[in-house]
Amino acid sequence: MRFDHIALLAAVAGSAAAAPAKNAKRASPFQWFGTSESGAEFGEDNLPGVYGKDYYFPDASTIQTLAGKGMNIFRVAFRMERLVPNSMTGGFDDAYLSNLTATVRAITDAGSHAVLDPHNYGRYNGEIMSSTSDFQTFWKNVAGEFASNELVIFDTNNEYHDMDQDLVLKLNQAAIDGIRDAGATSQYIFVEGNSWTGAWTWVDVNDNMKALTDPQDKIVYEMHQYLDSDGSGKSETCVSTTIGKERVTAATQWLKDNNKVGVIGEFAGGVNDNCKAAITGMLDYMGDNSDVWRGALWWAAGPWWADYIFSIEPPTGVAYTGMLSTLEPYLQ
Ligand SMILES: *[C@@H]1O[C@H](CO)[C@@H](O)[C@H](O)[C@H]1NC(C)=O
Repeated sequence: MRFDHIALLAAVAGSAAAAPAKNAKRASPFQWFGTSESGAEFGEDNLPGVYGKDYYFPDASTIQTLAGKGMNIFRVAFRMERLVPNSMTGGFDDAYLSNLTATVRAITDAGSHAVLDPHNYGRYNGEIMSSTSDFQTFWKNVAGEFASNELVIFDTNNEYHDMDQDLVLKLNQAAIDGIRDAGATSQYIFVEGNSWTGAWTWVDVNDNMKALTDPQDKIVYEMHQYLDSDGSGKSETCVSTTIGKERVTAATQWLKDNNKVGVIGEFAGGVNDNCKAAITGMLDYMGDNSDVWRGALWWAAGPWWADYIFSIEPPTGVAYTGMLSTLEPYLQ
């Protein structure tokens, strides 16, 4: 429920048993619904790159605007090589950490969840991360900075791909162990799988991920799903009006069979009727299975998207002006 409805109810209440406002929207089926916030990972060919030239941080005021529309989760993409420029186990770049912390605080001060997303594809400086112990230290150090903020969520890494499957499992487990070892014991941890963490290939590729363990039992399986023909999210054309539901059906059953919960950490489609129907179909199906689906995040908002086909950045992003009404039933 949004603040304006709460204020309205409070104003007319008088008694504890006020009738719901006439136009109150039906409740979202999800715990979380929001967007990725892109910008700090931009300029991936220039590492570490220059602030304001190669990369930038999300805008607190546009995050507020989206929160006011009912989004309650924002996934903040950043680059590990900028946060820890010398080595995975080395010290932080103070300015980058300070910008990242300010962005996280802007999100969580407003009561939303902030997902820390090292947008690294399982690589550091272009090499597949092979040391689980270095990765565990990286996460222990990062989680130590955010251990007292319960609204932070740790996302182990964006879109592992073309990696040894057992290594992907072990990197995720190392991240979990490092985070808990830092004393961050109340936060959710989003784990991602191989093959770009795709929902449509999850069961075939990532079945071993069911072996992950967390003493706090707060693992959420983050999958991504685009609706164009190759599933890459590069095209505005969706395969059909039913492709969204079709592409998450097997993963839904996997979550149920293994007693796990999941989130779609990235999804999008072009601003056209075919994609809108496909997106609605996917989200309605997930909502019907909200015992295993905690929510979904659009890809993406951020200050530098300009006319990008999926930009949901206020006030002129094409998905902000053209897709938000389609997403309205799932907003808080
Ligand atoms: C962000 O980084 C820039 C460039 O290093 C720095 O000038 C600025 O003070 C930082 N902002 C915050 C909020 O830390």
